[in-house]
Amino acid sequence: MNIIFHSSSRIPLTCVVAVISGCCWWILAPRSTPAAGDDPAPRQTKVDDAQALASPRRTTVYDSDPQHLWNRLHDTFRARIGGNTGDPWELDPFLWRSEDYLADEQGRNTALKVLDEFLAKNGHTMIKDPLKRALLQRDLWTLFDTLRPPKWDAGQKNTQTELATRVARIIPRLSLTAEEIENLPNNYAEAVAVKEAWYLPADLWNPKGSWVLLGDNDQMPLALSHLHFFGGRSAFFVFLRLPNGREQTKKYLAELRKLAPGAEPEAFPAGTDAALVRQMQLIDDQGKPVTTKVTESVQMLEGPFELKLNRRAFLAGKPSLKAIVEDDSERDYILFIGSNLGEGPSKVRRSCFSCHQGMKDIYSLNSYRRIRPIPLTPTVKPDLLPTTREEEETRLREWKGNRYEWGLLQGLMRNGARD
Ligand code: HEC
Repeated sequence: MNIIFHSSSRIPLTCVVAVISGCCWWILAPRSTPAAGDDPAPRQTKVDDAQALASPRRTTVYDSDPQHLWNRLHDTFRARIGGNTGDPWELDPFLWRSEDYLADEQGRNTALKVLDEFLAKNGHTMIKDPLKRALLQRDLWTLFDTLRPPKWDAGQKNTQTELATRVARIIPRLSLTAEEIENLPNNYAEAVAVKEAWYLPADLWNPKGSWVLLGDNDQMPLALSHLHFFGGRSAFFVFLRLPNGREQTKKYLAELRKLAPGAEPEAFPAGTDAALVRQMQLIDDQGKPVTTKVTESVQMLEGPFELKLNRRAFLAGKPSLKAIVEDDSERDYILFIGSNLGEGPSKVRRSCFSCHQGMKDIYSLNSYRRIRPIPLTPTVKPDLLPTTREEEETRLREWKGNRYEWGLLQGLMRNGARD
């Protein structure tokens, strides 16, 4: 059987590499895969789409009619757990590893058919709402990057290539203008305004506030594992705050840079915290990647806490950055940034301890210590410096700009624009 979707999982290899680098502690025991007929309900959290549970192929993410073309497209490519429905509203539906994802001919034909229908019927004109267009484009970009069209025999008929060319024609059709992107909701500010969580810092993005945005003097983005796992389609920002605020945090960083090789860094004072913010990237109507103000997640080490973009609230035009509570769970593949053997889901807030162990000193920051859930990400310690959002966006664009799949997408988008 030909597995058409490249599995980025290669889990045994991931594990071997991780063991060699001495950081495999978060890799949990393999979980059993549910039988195809298992009732998915107990395995889900917050799946409030009862219809979707009752009928795996009926979701209403984009329209109340499950047969709407956009819903069918979403349904065709979204992740399922062990053949079950999964949660149609999850944040990263098209990001998954599954050895049997569209592995059979029927799956492949369904996938090609729905993309062909989208192109033939000008599916992009069916929905004008910029929020919906943004989400579908973002998801299809993920799908595109997951495909592995062969590099050398481009002339050959190949399903990966066939899928990639279709997806690349749809992506620019869904693009927003610079103005539309600018007008997307700043859901971080909304969450602060509605007091979504007491621990969400109001001054995180204030360049004079108590949090310092961290960058690597090496000009690389700092959160390399997340960057690789999410393929540079989201921007990641790492913030640090010592209890007395900005000046104290900057002083700590300055002293760290002066530290002799091998010397122990100073311990963090009690009350130090770090945050990791993920923001959505889109491809604008000029074909350029743009970092939007839409926050996909905020993670905070002291708690630990997480807030995540809620697709349902986002599409309803409501404040969409929602606090994750004790029982909320997520697919392991996403939670453990690709490094877990199981399919999950697992409890989100309990997962943090697999990779983070409190706030002792600068080595408590994984972005500094450079544990590497993703093989091949650099292990050299970053040279930490305060940075700006703009600088980090530039670094991300440069990183993504050098990726093979970005070059391929650009080429195919240009070709698609001509037909
Ligand atoms: C599979 C391992 C893994 C899990 C699970 C995990 N993280 Fe992380 N986290 C990382 C890595 C690796 C980094 C460093 C950034 C990078 O390289 O992408 C990081 C970075 C962070 C940062 C920025 C500060 C730092 O350590 O560099 C915060 C804050 C954070 N994570 C919070 C959380 C929270 C909260 C959870 C649980 C909801 C969590 N993480 C779960 C691996 C993990």
